Amino acid sequence: MTNTIYKQLQDAATELKNTQFATMMTESRANEYSIQTESIYFNYARNPIDNNVVNNLLELAKHHQLQEKIDAMFAGDIINKSEQRAVKHWLLRSPLNTDDHDSIAVHQVLDKMELLADKVANNSLLDKPVTDIVCVGIGGSELGTRLVYEALTMGKKQPIKAHFVANIDGMAVADAIANCNPYTTLFLIVSKTFTTFETTKNFSTLRQWFCSQEGLDEAQFWRQSCAITANTQGALDAGVPESQIFNFWDWVGGRYSLWSSVGLPIALTCGMDSFKELLAGACDMDKHFRTTEFSQNLPVMLGLLHIWYSDFLKLPTRCVVPYAQNLKSLPDHLQQLEMESLGKSVTEDGEFLNTTTCPVVWGSVGSNAQHAFFQLLHQGTQTVPIDFIAASKPCDGLPTEIAEAIQEHHTALLANFMAQSRSLMTGGKTRDDNHGFFKGNTPSNLLLLDKVSPYSLGQLIAAYEHKVLVQSVIWGINAFDQFGVELGKQMCNEILANNDSDIGFEVIKESYKH
Ligand code: F6P
Repeated sequence: MTNTIYKQLQDAATELKNTQFATMMTESRANEYSIQTESIYFNYARNPIDNNVVNNLLELAKHHQLQEKIDAMFAGDIINKSEQRAVKHWLLRSPLNTDDHDSIAVHQVLDKMELLADKVANNSLLDKPVTDIVCVGIGGSELGTRLVYEALTMGKKQPIKAHFVANIDGMAVADAIANCNPYTTLFLIVSKTFTTFETTKNFSTLRQWFCSQEGLDEAQFWRQSCAITANTQGALDAGVPESQIFNFWDWVGGRYSLWSSVGLPIALTCGMDSFKELLAGACDMDKHFRTTEFSQNLPVMLGLLHIWYSDFLKLPTRCVVPYAQNLKSLPDHLQQLEMESLGKSVTEDGEFLNTTTCPVVWGSVGSNAQHAFFQLLHQGTQTVPIDFIAASKPCDGLPTEIAEAIQEHHTALLANFMAQSRSLMTGGKTRDDNHGFFKGNTPSNLLLLDKVSPYSLGQLIAAYEHKVLVQSVIWGINAFDQFGVELGKQMCNEILANNDSDIGFEVIKESYKH
């Protein structure tokens, strides 16, 4: 059965790869190949697909028991088998269920976050207003939160600024220090394991700097610090008072954790109401994913199209282009979400695969990207499918003095997006020689938000999380472990142990001999 589906999809790919799919475009196709959720209009008509392909992709999902796997995740089964863990990030955004102790724990932490957010908002935490929050964390303990923080605060006057310190490069700490006032800053250490080298080192350097300031000491540092972690003991051992520890749990993967206390910087800077709206958007997407039939299910169709690109059209990379300045960190977040989840070459049962899995995911914000890598998209030798993300309206809360101009900018932004998306499909000619030839036929998807808001952002990010699950099910891999980060970490520890003085030119040169 699977062989027949694969064979039909392979044959269709050979045929459709060379068909100018622009010629297939009709109004009914645009309607048929689109899905509307509460806040996302998803259109996938600009792809080399027909009903035969769509039906076979849906058969593929059925054959791999996608619905059963979705149900297993939402039932809290141990689907992360290599680590023997349940996968329950969805519970972080679900309403309270008083029969479930994990749900009760989630809501207790939400209440604790709200209490802190209130204290910060009414200036009762320190004896003066908090002006800055330094968030120390890396990977999943930074990327999602930074994306949402930027998306919701960009272009708006913010009483409290968040600074993100991730890199072990001392430049990251130096930059935070240069931009905040130690007397009015909160320090958050965000680490699921509480053992990540970059994070503990950065936090300790910040503490050192804080204690070197006039009138400040270690005791005051802890008064101004919180830990966000699944390793409570680790945080207590480090000196964080229990009342300032915000838990999350081992059933939340790092890259799926922004909905937990990891999102505390969002609640502190944008307010708890915004954070709850973000959770509500994601929760509605969970419901959509769990209950909607596959042909109308946004994450399922997006995941299947991404499988179509890599497994059948054999396209090794995929590009994400948000036409929204405040979503500039979306490609970074998706890179971790997709490549740390799906960059695997063994099956769930630990056998080596003989097929390909995750494509390279890359991208940047439009319209900037038009003046950077779009040349390759239009005229290079590779075909790169694109997810375009845009919002029909500008964000709320932008400077009212230039409201009219902002609308004009938004119209221009959308015109650029529409022109690119269309010309990448149609191709064309801009002069009479080969230099002016545009091959077209570039597959793309559109995810159109009404506007970038906490709710729509929650929907968008959760949709991508779920489409990752779809791909993992088709490939038979575990999307929730990440052993690939271990080897380099081990070697780094050995190098540090063997070099008690500074590493510089000579040491690096020597190391390249073996
Ligand atoms: O990059 C590996 C990784 O384990 C990620 O999965 C995780 O998000 C990041 O490191 C940070 O880990 P922690 O939250 O435990 O500090």
